[in-house]
Amino acid sequence: MKNINPTETNAWKKLQLHFETIKDVHLKELFKDQGRVAALTIQWQDFLVDYSKNRITEETKSLLVDLAEEVGLSEAIASYYGGEVINKTEDRAVMHTALRDFSATAYHKQEVAGVRDAIKTFTKSIIEGAHKGVTGKVITDVVNIGIGGSDLGPVMVVEALQYYKNHLTTHFISNVDGDHVMETIKDLNPETTLFVIVSKTFTTQETLSNATTVRAWFVDQLGEEAVGNHFVAVSTNLEAVQNFGITSHNIFPMWKWVGGRFSLWSSVGLSIALAVGYDHFEDLLKGAHEMDVHFKEQPFGENIPVITALLSVWYNNFFGAESEAVIPYTQYLHRLPAYLQQAIMESNGKSVDRDGNPVTYETGNIIWGEPGTNSQHAFFQLIHQGTKLIPADFIGFKKSLYGNTDHHDKLMANFFAQTEALMNGKTKDQVTEEFKERTLSRKRIEQLTPFKVFEGNKPTTTYLIDTLSPSTLGALIAMYEHKIFVQGVIWNIYSYDQWGVELGKQLAKQVLSDFNDVESSNHDASTKQLLISYKNA
Ligand code: F6P
Repeated sequence: MKNINPTETNAWKKLQLHFETIKDVHLKELFKDQGRVAALTIQWQDFLVDYSKNRITEETKSLLVDLAEEVGLSEAIASYYGGEVINKTEDRAVMHTALRDFSATAYHKQEVAGVRDAIKTFTKSIIEGAHKGVTGKVITDVVNIGIGGSDLGPVMVVEALQYYKNHLTTHFISNVDGDHVMETIKDLNPETTLFVIVSKTFTTQETLSNATTVRAWFVDQLGEEAVGNHFVAVSTNLEAVQNFGITSHNIFPMWKWVGGRFSLWSSVGLSIALAVGYDHFEDLLKGAHEMDVHFKEQPFGENIPVITALLSVWYNNFFGAESEAVIPYTQYLHRLPAYLQQAIMESNGKSVDRDGNPVTYETGNIIWGEPGTNSQHAFFQLIHQGTKLIPADFIGFKKSLYGNTDHHDKLMANFFAQTEALMNGKTKDQVTEEFKERTLSRKRIEQLTPFKVFEGNKPTTTYLIDTLSPSTLGALIAMYEHKIFVQGVIWNIYSYDQWGVELGKQLAKQVLSDFNDVESSNHDASTKQLLISYKNA
């Protein structure tokens, strides 16, 4: 990949000049162009991506595409798909796309297919009841123990695909919070529970502590020899898993070339395949693969991940927007923002460029969100009338899964109404007009008017998808994964390491050992006071 400072490109300089001409133009003005919506919409398979409600013109789009070309995005895509070591600081390729490639030429095809077959056989035997617990009972509950990418992907997808779920009840333990561990297992019957321990490294403190506690709770009730029927693990570190007491035939391998936050497509997705069955899991992979092909083959101007990444760069680096909201209009996707927080912020929260120099421009955006319409009754006030510019992704579906059109129409009426209102706002004249219908004094109307005016001009991108299915979900997630990649390329940063998180892991270990002798530990005065207070409680 080329290491190019984006701010030194011609396209960036032109974008800067162009920004001065467009920064105060209202979207309502831009919508006078009759061809705008057609020009700024991508219809791809079941996705209608309308990005016309963004503060861009066709000229902006063309300059942004020039930027992508100038920083060498095409070559970078070729390196990414070609299995080159693009995660240089960890000396790894980034090949999660291979996990959903069913073609004859797929990277590591045999190994990947072998693990997929193992997932298929195992999940079938659990779901159909052939695999029994140690006392001969069928499995009814699955507990996924993992954190970060070993939790967020599986839990988000299992929640999202609840409609497609089978009879198994799936639980997730991630935080090293003993209270949460106990709350999760207290009503479980160990005889009918399967524990899936997921840790790429099998060194993560939270996961190992939780797994150890749960294993002890289990052994206490059913004995050591029962572990084999009830514990499986997903990891690259086969030795550590075996040392933990899980035998090799109960280990589902994964590979170093799959990053934790991009790993739900690997055996990390075992809990997904258990919850919805292997066929739906495969549909999820195939949907993601369709997006992989789209990303690889479509020209930048028609390419969903490229366009959406460029929009992010536009707001982040030119408008100075600090955050982006993701608002799914379906309760099924309630964990999507949390999942994307890890995927996006762990990837692009970097301040050193690919040459090891501090960047002189903004990088990773802050991601947050909640499903609509709940979010409308929570933080939308700030998006509508606050001082910050918050570009938002609106994700909605044409059809509900249970077919209740009355509810779905209300849900989607809100969906459309919000993006329209965010764009158009409400002028002083409109507010005054509305007051005419009420019997208020002129003075009162004058007093109230400023509070009821909405500036509008708030950008949104609408993803209108036919239905929420394993396949469309796979494509949606893959879309965000590629968007992350494109942004990382443009910002000239390494998106696939996470040294900031590694530091936290190291420091927590130090503090834990300092609990033994807080008085002589080496901490700043504030931390020391807190540690003493904690230990004396
Ligand atoms: O959160 C940091 C991280 O390193 C993630 O990248 C990873 O998904 C998570 O920890 C869990 O790591 P592991 O799967 O090795 O337990």
